[in-house]
Amino acid sequence: MSKKYLFPYELIEINWRFWTFLVMIAVGIWAVISFPVAETAGYIDPFYSPTVAILPLPGLFRLTCYAYRKDYHRHLFNHPLGCSNTSRGENHQQMYTGERNAFFQLENYHRYFLYAGLAILPFFYYDFYHSLVYSGSFVLRLGSLVLLGNALMLTAWTLSCHAFRHLIGGNVDCYSCAYGGNARRSLFGIQSWWNKHHEALAWTSLLTIIFADLYLRALQAGLPVDFKIV
Ligand code: FES
Repeated sequence: MSKKYLFPYELIEINWRFWTFLVMIAVGIWAVISFPVAETAGYIDPFYSPTVAILPLPGLFRLTCYAYRKDYHRHLFNHPLGCSNTSRGENHQQMYTGERNAFFQLENYHRYFLYAGLAILPFFYYDFYHSLVYSGSFVLRLGSLVLLGNALMLTAWTLSCHAFRHLIGGNVDCYSCAYGGNARRSLFGIQSWWNKHHEALAWTSLLTIIFADLYLRALQAGLPVDFKIV
């Protein structure tokens, strides 16, 4: 039987996630359209890495991520509210049509956007390296650690992707018969552990990329947020 009323704590949870989602999307859009300076004191802004021109592809990779889909389908479009909501099966008007209609067909291409996500990962590590040697000699500053933390979180999020899980071993029926069977089985086991935390990684990596961008903007504004460590 479908549930008509929500308990107060469920309303709080829905509102919390809904507003978090909207605020993060708004900050992300603002970070891009306000055009950050590409490089500040040897730090390359993550929104410019490798170049702002290809940003739509990793942007679509994130937009079609299952972790965000769950939130915008449930909390933004109210459609579907959840798997336990049986009313969508009883009422044709409420049947789940995401992934088949208009804009939501894009979600089907998530597995292809994954390649763009994988391709840009090395650039974030290059940016970290560049920040260490930009002055001609080695120097480790707080900002380099911010860039490294962002690169690691983006890597953890990308490699824990459900599409990546399918790519490395999820599409294999018999590991002993498949090419590189044992290695793929081991990889699949490791990735499965990360995959369980994919939603948390999706949100944390969104926070770290926004934080890295804001950190560099604070530097550009002349705020004393950076210091030399080594
Ligand atoms: Fe989240 Fe692929 S499912 S990045």
